[in-house]
Amino acid sequence: MNIHTFAQRKHDRQKISMVTCYDHWSAKIINDSPIDCILVGDSLAVVMHGFDSTVHATIEMMEMHVAAVARGAPDKFIIADMPFLSCSKGIPAAMDAVQRLMQAGANAVKIEGDTHQVELIRHIVDAGVPVMGHLGLTPQSIHNLGGHRVQCKDEEQAARLIDSARKLTEAGCFAIVLECVPVKLGHCVSRTVSVPTIGIGAGPHTDGQVLVLQDLLGVDPEFKPRFLRQFADTRGVVVDALSRFHGEVVEESYPSLKESYK
Ligand code: KIV
Repeated sequence: MNIHTFAQRKHDRQKISMVTCYDHWSAKIINDSPIDCILVGDSLAVVMHGFDSTVHATIEMMEMHVAAVARGAPDKFIIADMPFLSCSKGIPAAMDAVQRLMQAGANAVKIEGDTHQVELIRHIVDAGVPVMGHLGLTPQSIHNLGGHRVQCKDEEQAARLIDSARKLTEAGCFAIVLECVPVKLGHCVSRTVSVPTIGIGAGPHTDGQVLVLQDLLGVDPEFKPRFLRQFADTRGVVVDALSRFHGEVVEESYPSLKESYK
C-alpha cells in the first residue's frame, strides 16, 4: 500500500481496511494479515497507558510506539498520529514532530482538525510527507466537543464538515478519517471528495473502515459503542489461558519433565 494505491482503491471501489496498532507483537500479527494499513493512533494513551483521553499522548510516546510497530510490520503502510497540540505551536515545531515520527518508521502522519490546519498540511505535503486528515469527532478536542458523541447532526455543521473535507483534499491530504458522523454525511463526504474516506462510526459508505485493534478483538466486552463489532472474544481466550496456567502450576502438572531440561 502507498498513497497511489489509496487513490486507486477509491477509483476501483475497493474498500480499505485499517487497524490501530501500538506494539511489536501485534504488528507482527498484522504484518501477516491482509489488513491494508496500520494507524499508530494517539488512542494508545488510553489503550496502552490507561489515560482517560488522547490529550495525554506525547511525541515521545508516539515515537516509541511507531518504532516498535515499524520493526514488526515492515510490509505495511504505517500512519502515525500527530499528538495533542503538536500542530498548534507553529510550523517549525510541527515539522520537528513530523520528522521524529517519520524517522521512527512512519510512512505518513495523521492530523486531526479542520480548515485551520490547511496551511500546515500544505507545508508537510510540500516537504514530501503524506498527510491523512481526520474530521468529525476529533478526540484531541474532546473537552471542547463535550464528550464522545455523534458529530454534525444538523445541516449547517454537516455543510461545514463537507467544506472542510474539500479543503483538506485541496491542501494535499491523501485520505481522510471520518469519525462518528451520521451515515448520510459519511456517504455524502465520500462522494464529494476525490480522496478515500476511512470511517469509524461513519456508516458503510465510506471508502474504508478503521477500528482500534483491541476493540475489534473484544479485549473489553463492556466497551460496546454502536459502531463497534467485536470480531473475537479475546478477553475470554486470555482469561481462560491464564486460569489454566494458574491451575496447572498450583496442581503441579506444569511444567512436566518433558518441559524441563535434563
Ligand atoms: O487514535 C486513533 O485510534 C484514531 C482512530 C480512532 C481513527 O484516531
